[in-house]
Amino acid sequence: MPSVFIKTYGCQMNERDSEAVAAQLVAKGYALAQSEKTADVILLNTCSVRDMAEQKALGKMSSLAAETRKRRPEVILGFMGCMAQSRGRELIDRLPDVDLVVGTQKFHRTAEHLDALFSGKQDKIVDIDAEVGSESTIREHLLNDPGASLSVTAFVSIMQGCNQHCTFCIVPSTRGGERSRAIDDIVAECRTLASRGVREVTLLGQIVTSYGKREMGRQGDVSAFVQLIEAVHAVDGIDRIRFTSPHPKGYGDDLIEAYARLPKLCESAHLPVQSGSDRILKLMHRGYTRDRFETLVGKLRGTRPGIGISTDIIVGFPGETDADFEATLSLARELEFDNAFLFKYSPRRGTPAADLPGQIPQALIEERHAVLLQNVNEIISRKYAASVGTVVQILVEGPSRRNSTRLEGRTRTNKIVVFEGSPRHVGQLLDVRIERAGKFTLYGDPAILNLNVNGS
Ligand code: SAH
Ligand code: F3S
Repeated sequence: MPSVFIKTYGCQMNERDSEAVAAQLVAKGYALAQSEKTADVILLNTCSVRDMAEQKALGKMSSLAAETRKRRPEVILGFMGCMAQSRGRELIDRLPDVDLVVGTQKFHRTAEHLDALFSGKQDKIVDIDAEVGSESTIREHLLNDPGASLSVTAFVSIMQGCNQHCTFCIVPSTRGGERSRAIDDIVAECRTLASRGVREVTLLGQIVTSYGKREMGRQGDVSAFVQLIEAVHAVDGIDRIRFTSPHPKGYGDDLIEAYARLPKLCESAHLPVQSGSDRILKLMHRGYTRDRFETLVGKLRGTRPGIGISTDIIVGFPGETDADFEATLSLARELEFDNAFLFKYSPRRGTPAADLPGQIPQALIEERHAVLLQNVNEIISRKYAASVGTVVQILVEGPSRRNSTRLEGRTRTNKIVVFEGSPRHVGQLLDVRIERAGKFTLYGDPAILNLNVNGS
C-alpha cells in the first residue's frame, strides 16, 4: 500500500487533526512513511494564523515539488488545514504540482480523495466545503502504533470553530462557527483512551469556554464546559485533565470553582491575554478589560496556589502607542506568567484589524517584541530557578526529546522534567525532587526517584 508522510505546522489542534488523519489512513490500509524522502504521499497540514506560517508551508511545498517531480513524479502532494481552507484552488493555481487541497471540515475525506487520485479517477481535488457534523469526525487515535512510542497523554478535540471574531484573527474564517461534540461522545473517547494506557487528556478547542453553549447550555450555575469536565473527571484511569484554550471573557466562577473540587484538573491554565491596554483590548474585540483579567488570574491563584499560568501576547497591533505597549509590559511584570508566547502582529486577509489605521512599522514591532521577550524570559527563568529543591509530581511520558537516554515527564503545572529512569517508569505518576533548572526544562533527582519507587 502507498505510504504517507504528514508534516504539521501550527497549533495543537493541527497536531491532533494530523494524528486523526494518519490513523484514518492507516485504518484504510495506507502505511505511514518515516520520512518525506520515501513517502508516496506528502501532506502539509497548514497554519494561517500569521503570514510567516503560511510562507513556511508554501516554501516547503515548492521545494518538495521541485525535488519529487524530478526523481519521483508519481508522488502525490497535498495541502490540508487552515491555509487549504482559506486559499483553496488558488494553491493549485500557484503551485501546479499540488494534487490535493483538503479544508478544515474535510479531514476525514482524505483517504477517499487519495484513493481517487491513485486510481486516476480524478486528477486534482479541492475539497473545502462546510460539512454538517464534521466536529465529530476527529476521533481516531494512533495509539500503541509499533512505530511510535507509547503515548500516555492524548489530545481530545471537543469542538471546532470560534464565534468570537477577534479583529486580528483568521481562525473564525478558516475553522468556521462553533460546533461542539456531545459529552457522551467525548467521554466514550476518553474511556477508550484510558483502556489503551492514556492517563492524561487535554481537551482541545479554539474557545473551550464556549463549549456546548448552544447545544446543551447551563445546568443551574454550571456551564456546559464544566459539565463536560465533570464527566471526563469520572472516567477511571484518566488521572490528569487539562484544556486549551479558554477565553478570559467566558471564564466563569463555575470553572474556577471546578479547580477547587476536581483534583484531576491540573493546576495549569493557558489564558491568552493579548494586550495589557484596555484601549487595544477593545480594538481587538476581546470582550474583557485588564482589570477583569487580573481578577481572574488572582482568583485562580487563590484557588490553586502555584498554578502555572501561560498566555499569548500580540505586539504591534494597529494603533498600539508606546503607552499601550508599556501597559502590556507592566501587565507581564505584574502577573509573572509561567510561560508566554509572544506574537508579532501579522495582518490577515479579510480581518477587520488589517484595515485599521495606524499599522505599526515592522522595525518598531521587532523592537517591542525584543523588549517584552527579555522581560518575560527573565521572569520565567526566575520562576524555574525557584522550583529547585521542591518535590513535584510528574507523569512520565517517555524518552527525553533532547537526550533519549533519559526520560521526561511533565509536572501538573505543565513544566518538563528530565531525569534518569528506566522504561518501566513510562506511564507512572512519580514524585521527583528538582535539582537543577535549565531554560524551559527542569532536571529531577534520580536518588529521590529511586527512593520513592522502592518505598511505594
Ligand atoms: N483561541 C485560539 C487562538 C488561536 S491563534 C487558541 O488559543 O486556541 C493563537 C494565538 O496566535 C492567539 O492567541 C494570538 O496571540 C496569536 N495570533 C492570532 N492572530 C494573530 C495575528 N494576526 N498576528 C499575530 N498573532 C496572532
Ligand atoms: Fe481567534 Fe479570538 Fe477565536 S483569537 S480563535 S477569534 S477567541
